[in-house]
Amino acid sequence: KQRILSGVQPTGNLHLGNYLGAIRNWVEGQSEYENYFCVVDLHAITVPHTPETLAADTYTIAALYLACGIDLEHSTIFIQSHVPAHSELTWLLNCITPLNWLEDMIQFKEKAVKQGENVGAGLLDYPVLMAADILLYQADRVPVGEDQKQHLELTRDIAARFNHFYGKGETVLKLPDPLIRKEGARVMSLTDGTKKMSKSDPSEQSRISLLDPPEAIARKIKRCKTDPVRGLEFDNLERPECHNLLSLYMLLSGQTKEAVAAECQDMGWGQFKPLLTETMIAALKPIQDRYQEIMGDRPYLESVLRQGRQKAEAIAASTLAEVKKALGYSTPL
Ligand code: TYM
Repeated sequence: KQRILSGVQPTGNLHLGNYLGAIRNWVEGQSEYENYFCVVDLHAITVPHTPETLAADTYTIAALYLACGIDLEHSTIFIQSHVPAHSELTWLLNCITPLNWLEDMIQFKEKAVKQGENVGAGLLDYPVLMAADILLYQADRVPVGEDQKQHLELTRDIAARFNHFYGKGETVLKLPDPLIRKEGARVMSLTDGTKKMSKSDPSEQSRISLLDPPEAIARKIKRCKTDPVRGLEFDNLERPECHNLLSLYMLLSGQTKEAVAAECQDMGWGQFKPLLTETMIAALKPIQDRYQEIMGDRPYLESVLRQGRQKAEAIAASTLAEVKKALGYSTPL
């Protein structure tokens, strides 16, 4: 079986963009692959963070993976910081990664501008840590949303460069392919259909969290940005909000685009919004119920993460040993 690796940062809990862009696809494809899903808590400190909530947020994300349907028969769930090889490989890859490759990353530029003076070296180095996450597991495919595409290209470039300089004709690090589904790859903000839904948007109104109670979902959909045009349609570039909300309805109701386009073509917002609200609440309810159950059984969650760490560590250790050998390191005594 081909191997999959992906991860989410534990900053706040997951929103619909994370779910529809990434996790839903992990769940759907999982039986075809051997899967590793990681909570990337080392990435979480590349921007100012709250130490008091980091551990709890990390467990929340792990529980949400399970609640969304990650099945331990096919998949391994673990926490990035529990497997020190991620940090170690990052250092080794840092030394072969040209600085200007990192300076060209769109997400770095965006985040650096937002943070002004307070940009840590970790923010620049973030994509190398992500490359280490992926390359340690020799992943064939990495299912992510559209916004991670550039980071995956960089991961391939780093792997190719490593193999070129140190592989002696062998593939020490496998080049992974991105797995980006067209539908859901870019879920947009509820307050601006031209901006992606994001954890870092200061407005809660801009996103739906997977754990939002029904009242919050109803309120956010009621207040979300729309337009004054009657009749709803996909793919009209002048109506980004309309496209986004119809797409959400399509993905959460499990219908085809054609069916949704036909159903909604004569609707006004007053008719569509309650429909979307109801669909969203119904789609999230099983996830929320399961989440509560898992969070009520801490020993279970801990055992999942302990076993996950053990499985992950074994693979990571073997890649790390190959990398160190290729670089010419002496064997630890
Ligand atoms: P993060 O935590 O920002 O997002 C997690 C996943 O959600 C996707 N995503 C979206 N998809 C559609 N629409 C949106 N509005 C939206 N917002 C987020 C992201 O594309 C991602 O798939 N660097 C990564 C985490 C990471 C990683 C990895 C991913 C670290 N190491 C190794 C894959 C493999 C990140 O910050 O994702």
